[in-house]
Amino acid sequence: MTVGTTPLTQAALLTELEPVVARNLDRHLAIAKEWFPHEYVPWSAGRTFDGVLGGEAWTPQDSPIPDVARTALVVNLLTEDNLPSYHHEIATQFGRDGAWGTWVHRWTAEEGRHGTAIRDYLTVTRAVDPVALERARMEHMAAGYVNQHNDEVLHSLAYVSFQELATRISHRNTGKATGDPLCDQLLARIAADENLHMVFYRNLLAAAFELAPSQAMRAVADVVADFQMPGVGIDGFARKSVQIALAGIYDLRQHRDEVLVPVLRQWDVWNVTGLDGDGEAAREELATQLAELERSASRFEEKRAARHARQAARIS
Ligand SMILES: [Fe+2]
Ligand SMILES: [Fe+2]
Repeated sequence: MTVGTTPLTQAALLTELEPVVARNLDRHLAIAKEWFPHEYVPWSAGRTFDGVLGGEAWTPQDSPIPDVARTALVVNLLTEDNLPSYHHEIATQFGRDGAWGTWVHRWTAEEGRHGTAIRDYLTVTRAVDPVALERARMEHMAAGYVNQHNDEVLHSLAYVSFQELATRISHRNTGKATGDPLCDQLLARIAADENLHMVFYRNLLAAAFELAPSQAMRAVADVVADFQMPGVGIDGFARKSVQIALAGIYDLRQHRDEVLVPVLRQWDVWNVTGLDGDGEAAREELATQLAELERSASRFEEKRAARHARQAARIS
């Protein structure tokens, strides 16, 4: 289909992309493997808690995992917990009918496993304080979540393409940081789901680049410019993200080099043709953003290295 200079409406974008959704849904269903959260949880390690059943209260000594891994696990779990808000956002944006609707519900069902599995694991192994966790969940979910670009289909697709990959990397590195092979195994399983989600959204936006290249480029540039992780509303998020970045679980370097760059390469953004004035301007903004991120990532790495050197000097 050739597209003139008139931008496609949101409704037209949804209609034009629906066959691509249908194809990618079939592909997803053919390759997604069924799995069971209960198999990943060492139930026999559990003990009854205090309170209603009069068991033993949680103490920090119960948790064998490093503090920073605990912080990352809580951030990742609270992020997964906020699924009702995400469902609301994508159901409103993509609709509940046809292939879009089937995808929205299937995606929600898959995401629903993640919070359940992580919570069961953390509760049974006493890896985190269950009272603090529940209070944080209440606060975070009660605040809700609103997508930064919630009326724009292509912006939403660009956001989730990056966000699913970011979540995959964060789960993967959190698993390693726990030093607990069973927790690592569970988070690796969840990360595999996030990867398939990323591929689904990335393929849709690739089709949008064919359909409406300038609108797609604008969406990508805008989303890269103000990207924030979905857990941004968590209490103390800024401080927690610094800890997570210092530990190398998710930092600017990974965000740029392992999330943005590979996805942009798949869309071949630097070679897209047929852009109008705004599309070209968006591509230039994107290049500027990546250059700025490169500088910020390098600065952060230098500061982190200096900090680690100071810590090492204090210890020796
Ligand atoms: Fe998830
Ligand atoms: Fe996901």
